[in-house]
Amino acid sequence: MEKPADTQYPIHELLQRRWSPRAFSARPVEPETLRSLWEAARWAPSSYNEQPWAFLIATKQDHTEYAKLLSCLMEGNVQWAQQAPVLMVSVAKLSFEENGKPNRHAFHDVGLAVANLVTQATVLGLAVHQMAGIYPDKVRELYGIPEKHEPVAGIVLGYPGDPESLPEGLRERELAPRERKPLAEFVFAGRWGRTCPLVSIEPLRL
Ligand SMILES: Cc1cc2nc3c(=O)[nH]c(=O)nc-3n(C[C@H](O)[C@H](O)[C@H](O)COP(=O)(O)O)c2cc1C
Repeated sequence: MEKPADTQYPIHELLQRRWSPRAFSARPVEPETLRSLWEAARWAPSSYNEQPWAFLIATKQDHTEYAKLLSCLMEGNVQWAQQAPVLMVSVAKLSFEENGKPNRHAFHDVGLAVANLVTQATVLGLAVHQMAGIYPDKVRELYGIPEKHEPVAGIVLGYPGDPESLPEGLRERELAPRERKPLAEFVFAGRWGRTCPLVSIEPLRL
């Protein structure tokens, strides 16, 4: 299923096409495809080139590891995530390697790495759905995450599935229109909250 963004201004077709479905196909994701996704993440920019990201991953082929990672997701997410062939959790290193000082941009940079991964996934015809709904303490315990590292988000990925495979409530959400705030609500100039004149003109309808 496609749910392209209804944009105010033109954007690249890949960005327009990306969305976060809950229906995934059971089709496994090829190892070389997964390697391309992590390679894309690897080439994200980061503050001081610290690359403060790491990923835990489990594929459905390994039942034990898959069940372990699935158990770190909150129940509302397990409902649909359990269809997907690949589960991941992103992890941030919160201090700099060089001097141990806090890295204020660690989460930001993990987000950039995931954004790269998501874009590469979209290129390859995969769907990705990120999740705040994980149990970070459980991830820490089950995977032995060291101090100064922090689980950030769950990531579900696979080939797109059939919305009909979802339970009723979720099926409706899958079909609901995608929504965004207008640019005027978050692009400011001169003072906090003052819309930048460049975007305060009438949105262009494409
Ligand atoms: C960091 C992050 C956490 C999210 N957490 C959840 C979650 O726990 N469960 C869920 O169903 N969706 C989650 N989402 C998906 C968002 O709800 C979704 O991206 C948003 O509604 C916009 O929809 P779109 O991605 O289809 O454009 C999360 C997305 C991000 C980036």
